[in-house]
Amino acid sequence: MPIAFTTAGELPHDLDALGIPVFAGLEPLPGVPVEIDRRFCEQRGFEAKAGEALALQGDDDVTVVVVGLGALEEVGRETLRKAGAAFARTSGHAAAADAGTAAEAVVEGIALAAYEFTTYKGRARPTGLERLSVVGDDAAALGAGVVRGARIAEAVCMARDLVNEPAGAMTPRRLADVARELADRHGLSVTILDEVAIASEGLGGLAGVAQGSDEPPRLIELVYQPSSPAPGVGDGHVPTVALVGKGITFDSGGLSIKTADGMMTMKTDMSGAAAVLATMSALADLAVAAKVIAIVPTTENMPGGRAVKPGDVLKIRNGKTIEVLNTDAEGRLVLADGLSLAAEAAPDAIVDVATLTGACVVALGRQIAGLMGNNEDLVGQVRGASERAGEPVWHLPLPEEYRKGIESEVADMKNISSPAGAGGALTAGLILGEFVGDVPWAHLDIAGPARSDADEGYTHKGATGFGVRTLIELASQFAAPRREAPAHR
Ligand code: BES
Ligand code: MN
Ligand code: ZN
Repeated sequence: MPIAFTTAGELPHDLDALGIPVFAGLEPLPGVPVEIDRRFCEQRGFEAKAGEALALQGDDDVTVVVVGLGALEEVGRETLRKAGAAFARTSGHAAAADAGTAAEAVVEGIALAAYEFTTYKGRARPTGLERLSVVGDDAAALGAGVVRGARIAEAVCMARDLVNEPAGAMTPRRLADVARELADRHGLSVTILDEVAIASEGLGGLAGVAQGSDEPPRLIELVYQPSSPAPGVGDGHVPTVALVGKGITFDSGGLSIKTADGMMTMKTDMSGAAAVLATMSALADLAVAAKVIAIVPTTENMPGGRAVKPGDVLKIRNGKTIEVLNTDAEGRLVLADGLSLAAEAAPDAIVDVATLTGACVVALGRQIAGLMGNNEDLVGQVRGASERAGEPVWHLPLPEEYRKGIESEVADMKNISSPAGAGGALTAGLILGEFVGDVPWAHLDIAGPARSDADEGYTHKGATGFGVRTLIELASQFAAPRREAPAHR
């Protein structure tokens, strides 16, 4: 159930729980009208570290939750998200905080921590969180922050829902229906290519991966056109960014089949698609000034009788050919078509998001995404957006010298590199870079952070919705990147 977020100038009367933010050393925020029982806090070992929370029993059945912010000098947006999450988990109820961005971050943390996926549970237990007021003086700033934070969190939760849904239900056709519904509800234009159109449009990577499945593939395109022009844009050119999301609704590996363990979480392989669709759902509500094009190639990767075979050659939309030596390296094949289409639209930039390589998980672990690209300005914008959004990324190189590793005997390139097992995230990035032409492009490999193994902070076991907050922040602040000598080539 969605939480109703509001703001208030003073404490509501019908309060169940009250969150009191405190800094390290148990220093309360100035002006907070509640006495904190320091001795009790100290006895419980509560030090007001960031993300720490402790429930106290207040007067009149109000649960008072002290929420740690850590040292005053170190409080940033991420601290506030964690504080919001700690509050949501500890109180099972309501909060109090300060202005604008802070309210936004706290609300995000609370809403994300309160998320649950109950569609298939016999008995869905209620969260207890129904209505939440952020209390403070600056009503306008608070209100704007609360609305924005709640809207962003809603989008993240939508992405989580799409990913947590079993692959048997979230098929490519279902994903296309979701895109149509979004277009209807949020005033986006939508184009869906079915399997026949995919073949006739020359999307050989997507068609090739789909061959082994009984479920037909889809190519989803959504366009968000801002209603008012961006400020300072005189020539009528609206900065335009294309987002491309990997939409493998289930990755069995194909004939290069995965192990039982390796397949267990592979409904997650459409997390990039989910992040892109969820981002599109929020742009109008957030009055984003840039034009945003979404392209989602979506299919299952299955080992059926017609499946693509190791050694087969596929022809991608932009005319380049790829020898498929490992059918489990399928993401780059469908993205090659998606990126080609994105480049044809001649946007100012392309950003793709994909659960692309296990190698990226080995390199950066489960909480950090790999960031690669061909343009320093754009890579900087994505990195800045990810920092503000609290979704960590690390910039990896795309070394020119490694390109010889993808040379093929028979085609323009092959889909895996030799030597195998070395720099796999970079190989995948290098292949993608062959399909963007000279458009500034950035690639986010979210194979690690798309899923979480544990309930922690504001993430839950299962889908995290990683990428949504970065993409929304990027779109919100987007400026056409300077065309320049490629960054790491
Ligand atoms: N979807 C996987 C990548 C992945 C692995 C995502 C683990 C999340 C967790 C991708 O399609 C894949 O299978 N990649 C292969 C590439 C290899 C065959 C070159 C991989 O990483 O093993
Ligand atoms: Mn795969
Ligand atoms: Zn995959």
